[in-house]
Order: sequence, then structure tokens, then C-alpha cells
Amino acid sequence: MTSPQAKMVVDQEHKIGEIDPRIYGSFIEHLGRAIYGGIYEPDHPRADDKGFRTDVIQLVRELNVPIIRYPGGNFVSGYNWEDGVGPRSRRPRRLDLAWRTVETNQVGANEFAEWVRQVDSEMMMAVNLGTRGIDAARNLVEYCNHPGGSYWSDLRKDHGYPEPHRIKTWCLGNEMDGSWQIGHKTAEEYGRLAAEAAKTMKWVDPAIELVVCGSSNSGMPTFPQWEATTLEHTYDEVDYISLHQYYGNRTDDTPSYLANSLDMDRFIRTVIATCDFVKAKKRSKKRLHLSFDEWNVWYHSNEADQKIEPWTIAPPLLEDVYNFEDALLVGTMLITLLKHADRVKIACLAQLVNVIAPIMTENGGRAWRQTIYYPYLHVSRYGRGIALNPAITSPKYDCAEYTDVPYLESAAVYNEEQEELTIFAVNRHLEESLLLECDVRGFENYRVIEYLVLKHQDLKAVNTAQEERVKPQRCEEAVLEDGRLKVPLPKASWNVIRLGKCPS
Ligand code: AHR
Repeated sequence: MTSPQAKMVVDQEHKIGEIDPRIYGSFIEHLGRAIYGGIYEPDHPRADDKGFRTDVIQLVRELNVPIIRYPGGNFVSGYNWEDGVGPRSRRPRRLDLAWRTVETNQVGANEFAEWVRQVDSEMMMAVNLGTRGIDAARNLVEYCNHPGGSYWSDLRKDHGYPEPHRIKTWCLGNEMDGSWQIGHKTAEEYGRLAAEAAKTMKWVDPAIELVVCGSSNSGMPTFPQWEATTLEHTYDEVDYISLHQYYGNRTDDTPSYLANSLDMDRFIRTVIATCDFVKAKKRSKKRLHLSFDEWNVWYHSNEADQKIEPWTIAPPLLEDVYNFEDALLVGTMLITLLKHADRVKIACLAQLVNVIAPIMTENGGRAWRQTIYYPYLHVSRYGRGIALNPAITSPKYDCAEYTDVPYLESAAVYNEEQEELTIFAVNRHLEESLLLECDVRGFENYRVIEYLVLKHQDLKAVNTAQEERVKPQRCEEAVLEDGRLKVPLPKASWNVIRLGKCPS
């Protein structure tokens, strides 16, 4: 029996657009052990003089994360940012109503800004538009970004930070359409508040860029009217609209689960259409971009979270242990972001450490890479440059949730500077390898630099502190001859094929 075959044509001239590196961003919320026990643990043997875990810093650096959203998430909608600045001994302990925990405020905006610098990233700051509003938001911009000579900027200096943090990207609240959100609002209420907050924040610092809240997920009953209404109010003031989406394999139906990136694709297309509708209605010349600032798999920890004692400090919340099939879905989601590189300019894998995260830690102990770490690492490392628009022909399947699902999900990225073409591909077929034949004729004198594969016999295999069962392997099976690349993509696999110009 011969393997099913898929074809691709990759042409340098057929471009989607320049990839904004910020699509490889992530997110750290004051939630569970993300901050305390994750990035910050002063008593840990590998903590630096500021209390940050250097083993975690090393893993985050390896990922090359360009932007990190902070401090929430649901947490931000009840947060007083002033609690987290100034002398640590005077910072209050507060009830965090979003996650029913106690927040010690030992880490706040200044410490996080320092940590972000250590991991060579930049901060994306969210303001509280749940319990608070314009005043707290504009003060925070002044505290973080104003050079000095005003009340809040001088307070930052008094707190030991003479230089402004110069935070460029700001989120106008979080998931304000959701009833679970503290200070949940209607689209009209939120739209007006966001527009006024945006205007005022930009008066403090005209260099900032703003993200307005879109829907919490595409299944919200108010989607996409929420986007249309909030944008009617905010279109002229903001630069991006947010999208959030998580998937889970709750019915253990892997063919449907792996097809969820089709839903993500539809979600992105609908938000683009809504932005462009408002643009047309307003006769605007401005093009709004998308910030997919929460995306991932989230379901493994749901049951365990129900049993967690409320009002404790840094409990192990949302600690999903990811398996191999989760890494495949994450791969297809990354490819989906690349397919929309012209409109999606920011995206944040939610989250980064311990909480639905690629990196896990033990309190006082080890740090390790979950399965989903690897597709994220590969795309962040090799997916820089121009997203090309390959013509793809793939056999398809039907499943309970979707029809016409291509077995092959793929994207091609051309890095002009390095003269490298990288093909990312997922074979969704659970029983058979897929013979990929890719026409790369325009790339003359290219050779295969490296072919990396993430595969495992057991779709449910996981990585632990003790054992890394799921990790990429180098393979030799990719052959490039006469402008044709042939690769037998193993069943259920994530593939990275790197081509580079032969040295002259
Ligand atoms: O990332 C976990 C939570 O998911 C965030 O706090 C919230 O914004 C979303 O619902």
C-alpha cells in the first residue's frame, strides 16, 4: 500500500507578509505558581540576587520570546497596581477574587520589568478596566513611561527605578465580555470606557500602542457583535483588537481535536472581516491589526482546580500536563498564526511558566520543558522573516466536529537575511505517513540544512521532571533534488524542514 501524498508549491514571490516577531509572544499572570514558584522564588538554590530563578530564565531565553503580557488575565480586573510598587514590606496582601487566592504583591510592575529585561523580552502591560478606570490607567502609564518631573514618575524614581520602563504595548482590560470577569461590561459600556481610557493614556505617552478587548472566545453569544460595537467606539484610538481561544480534547476524539486550528482560522477571518466592516463604515484609512494574546490547549487541569483550597498563596492552579497530541495541535495553531501574518501582529501563548505553560517547575527543585515547548521553540527560532503563501494540495478527512480537514497543515517562512527557507508541517494522519512533495524551484542552489521531527507512538505521552519522553529528533529523510523536496512526514508528527543556500 502506498502512503497518501500531499503537494506544495513554494514561491518567493507569493507572500502573505512580513512576520512580526511579536507573534511569538507569551503571557504571565499573577495566577497559581506562574510568578511565585515559577519565575520568582528567592529561596531557590538557583535564584539570583533579585529572587528570580535562573534555571527558568535560561529556558525562557532559549525560546526567544519577544513580548510578554502581564499581569493578567482575569487577575488584572481586580488589581491595584499601586499595591505592587514601593518597599516590599509595606505591600498589602489582597484577596484575588478572579482565582480565589491571596496575592502577596511581592512582585509588581518594576520587578516584572527587570525580569523581562533579563529574558531579553519586552512587556505588554494590561490595565484594570474592571474595578478601575481612566485614572488608574493613566497614572500607571505615567509611572512606567514618563521620564520624571511629575508625581507618578518621581515616585518610580523614589522606588529605585530612575529610568522609565518605556512599555510600548498596553491592553485595555481583559475579557470584558465575560460574566466571570470582575467588572464585566456590555459592549457599549466597555467601548465608551476603553475609548476614553485609550485617549487619555495616549495623551500621557503618545508613543504607546493599544489593544482593545475582543471576545473571550469565538463561542461567546455576543461574538462578533461585541467586536463591531466596541470598535465603533474605539476604532480611531486603538491599534489592535484581541482574540483569545483555548482548546481541549474532552471527548478523546483526536481527529476532531487536531482539526481545531480550522476553528482558529475561521475566528481570525471573522475578526478581520469585522474590523474591515467598521473601517468601511467609518470611511477610515487606518487598518486595524489583531493581537491573539491568549491561545493554547487548556483542559487537563480543570478537575484538579475544583479541589484547590481557596485563599492560599500561589496554589498549583491550571497546571496542565501536556501530552504529545497537544504539541501537534499547538503546531497547527502556530501555522495558523503564520497564515495570517499580514493581520496578526501580536500573539501570546498563554501562559509561559507553570500555568498552562510550556515550562514547568517544582518549588525548590527542577524546571523542565513540556511537549508543547518544542513547536513553540522551533517556530520562534526559525519562523522569522516573510510568511510565504504556498499552494497546498492535501488529502482530507471528515470527523465528528469538522469536514474536509486536510491531513497536511503547513506554512513556509523565508528568511532573506539568512537565505533560509523553513517549512513547518503537521501530518494529522494518525495511521499513515504522508509523502510530501514540495516544489521549491525558485530557491536555486539550496540544500537541506536540517530536518527535525517531533513524533511518538503514544499520543498521550508526556514529559516530566524526571523524563523527557517527547523531544525532537534529527532525521535524514528529507531529500532535495532538482528543486523538488521529498519528505515522508511520519504519522501524527510535527516537522521542521530547513533549507539554506549552498555556500558558493
Ligand atoms: O489564561 C488563563 C485565563 O484565561 C486568563 O486569566 C483569562 O484572560 C482567560 O479566560
